Amino acid sequence: MKRLSGITPAEYARRRRQLMEAAGDDAILVLPAAPERVRSHDTFYPYRQDSDFWYLSGFQEPEAVLVLIPGRRHGESILFCRERDPDREAWDGPRAGQDGAVSRYGMDDAYPIEDLDEILPGLLEGRSRVYYHFGRDADFDLKLIGWVNRVRSQVRHGAQPPHEFLELGHLLHEQRLYKSDDEIALMQTAADISVRAHRAAMRVARPGIHEYELQAELEREFRASDAWPAYNSIVGAGANGCVLHYRDNNGGSREGDLVLIDAGAEFRGYASDITRTFPVNGRFSTEQRLLHELVLSAQAAALEQARPGIAYEEGHLAAVEVLTEGLLRLGLLKGDLEENIIERHYQRFYRHKTGHWLGLDVHDVGDYRVAGESRLLEPGMVFTIEPGLYISPDDRDVEPRWRGIGIRIEDDVLITAAGHHVLTGALERSAEEIEAFMARR
Ligand code: GLY
Ligand code: MN
Ligand code: MN
Repeated sequence: MKRLSGITPAEYARRRRQLMEAAGDDAILVLPAAPERVRSHDTFYPYRQDSDFWYLSGFQEPEAVLVLIPGRRHGESILFCRERDPDREAWDGPRAGQDGAVSRYGMDDAYPIEDLDEILPGLLEGRSRVYYHFGRDADFDLKLIGWVNRVRSQVRHGAQPPHEFLELGHLLHEQRLYKSDDEIALMQTAADISVRAHRAAMRVARPGIHEYELQAELEREFRASDAWPAYNSIVGAGANGCVLHYRDNNGGSREGDLVLIDAGAEFRGYASDITRTFPVNGRFSTEQRLLHELVLSAQAAALEQARPGIAYEEGHLAAVEVLTEGLLRLGLLKGDLEENIIERHYQRFYRHKTGHWLGLDVHDVGDYRVAGESRLLEPGMVFTIEPGLYISPDDRDVEPRWRGIGIRIEDDVLITAAGHHVLTGALERSAEEIEAFMARR
């Protein structure tokens, strides 16, 4: 049975079991839900569950704590959550309550969140290791220390307090790095929604349109597909495309401008992350086309490195080499290829990395290096490939014709046994494809 999250209770149970096996029988794992955050005075940001909590429970309410106790005979998965309250539910919507936590979310047991203080010390007692995200939520850190101290205060009466405190992310984030078939299906849906959204924006683009109008087209498509932006949409016309995480989205566009859109849908918690750069009038200028082709060939070179057994870092190195070679060819850099790469002169125009893991978070969890080495790609890993070139409008050291051009091309890639699958591959990407799409809109 699929729940609203698109993941079955059986899969959540499997995830918890896998994590508990890795943690071992004398451990206890404690995960608080994300707090609600005030936007201003008495209004709140839209609530988004903590990704780790979501990954292990599918539970979407705030004021909850998941406690996993491997091997405990009276139940291993315990949820503390809000009690049912008809009056509050009339204002804020339904709550699962303790019965719902068990019947709908597959918990072994559930208690009111108000009882946490009373019950948790007893659950900690006799467990030697505590897995928890230290330092993420200072208030909760203090509470946890308080519960541990309560157990310590009972040592004279035979209590056994935990004596090892471990970073939960170390185990859990390794697990989240490998996507299951159901997760991949959700990520494909998120990618498909984003493809439609980028096309919607390209369809209405014309000189004079404002960045926020393009953002509205994108995000209309997200909401119409029951999705949200996975991160703040970046819509930069002209030189605003050179600002890597541009956020104002309030500028106008002019004839001859490129528009850089970096926007992706979050569907059932799973992110997509796409960037396309297109001419607002539908036709690339000579300089825009040259740089766009260069970024595209850097992306193709990185994509060639996307297969099992290849080090993650190889994609970035391949992209940097192609970009640097091209910058030398176009006269934007001078000198020798090797020296420009070693001295990182390309960073004047390309200052970010070529990608990141993607999943429940847009910059998803998981180590990039293992034992000091770039980790090898394996089936089920998903990441972005997003090379770019940004020529500052104020860079007096380049010819004026290049200034103010910012280009990024970003796609989402799944590693498969056979190589890779580009989740966002349906979206027009090359200058020719973009021009053809804009010509027939
Ligand atoms: N949108 C943020 C990124 O591409 O990493
Ligand atoms: Mn990205
Ligand atoms: Mn992006």
